[in-house]
Amino acid sequence: MANIIDGKAVAADLRRNVTTAVSALKSAYGYAPTLAVILVGEDPASQVYVRSKHKFTKQAGMGSVAHKLPEDVDEQTLIDLIKTLNTDADVDGILVQLPLPSHIDTQRVIGVIDPAKDVDGLTEISAGRLSLGRPGLRPCTPEGCVILAKSALEKGDSLSGKHCVIVGRSILVGKPAAFLFLEQNCTVTIAHSRTKNLADVCRSADILVAAVGRPLMIKGGWVKKGAIVIDVGINRVANNTPRAKRKTKLVGDVDFEAATKYAMAITPVPGGVGPMTIACLLRNTVLAACARRNMTISQKL
Ligand code: GUN
Repeated sequence: MANIIDGKAVAADLRRNVTTAVSALKSAYGYAPTLAVILVGEDPASQVYVRSKHKFTKQAGMGSVAHKLPEDVDEQTLIDLIKTLNTDADVDGILVQLPLPSHIDTQRVIGVIDPAKDVDGLTEISAGRLSLGRPGLRPCTPEGCVILAKSALEKGDSLSGKHCVIVGRSILVGKPAAFLFLEQNCTVTIAHSRTKNLADVCRSADILVAAVGRPLMIKGGWVKKGAIVIDVGINRVANNTPRAKRKTKLVGDVDFEAATKYAMAITPVPGGVGPMTIACLLRNTVLAACARRNMTISQKL
């Protein structure tokens, strides 16, 4: 039976480190970093994410500013707000909650964010630095995947030389995850919907990262014995369990029950990768503040 990787506990550890770093910055420089989050529209899931980001940012001792814009806001108003935040000396990180309404050009909007404040790691500058192996702000969800995969290794083992198969090639997760696992000296394969013999490719993975956004697509038998499985999927599906209290439930991209029979360790959904995204965002906000304001912290974040 697989170990269940406790994403909530790993994220809580990282948030504790961030909180310690923030108090160190306050003592040494009299300054606490601030994160600005922009939410456009009323998407319920996005509202939940933004509330959590606000709560955990405050809990870590940092400043948190939320800007809420109506669903029908025009692109230029959003861009003007980002430009104002770019030049606001008190703002260290800017995050535009995705997805944006369809009348807004997401890439254009992201492109306006000052790369020094790009705590989501989504600008072309951040992506370029990642692909060149240069220091920079890394996207939060893929960074969380690497931390969780490391946490599941046996004592003394490392990711180096392991075959990491990433299913999904999105800009938010799949592509940056490939570079981040490469930085860990993994041999990386990116698979996707057109990959031939996907089951066989998955079965060759020591580390299997599922980021396709299709409920339960990765079957138990696709998992190599002893593999580490990181499930990024968060899919809401009908809950057919008899006498279930809720009509829907969250499932990942991996058939969790079946995969536990093969994997050495696996992340659950919910409670796996999800909590890591916010923890990594808080860390990025501290890193961005330190780089921009020439501050140093002695602890490793
Ligand atoms: N929506 C879902 N995940 C994310 C994320 O990591 N960053 C942003 N900005 N929006 C999201």
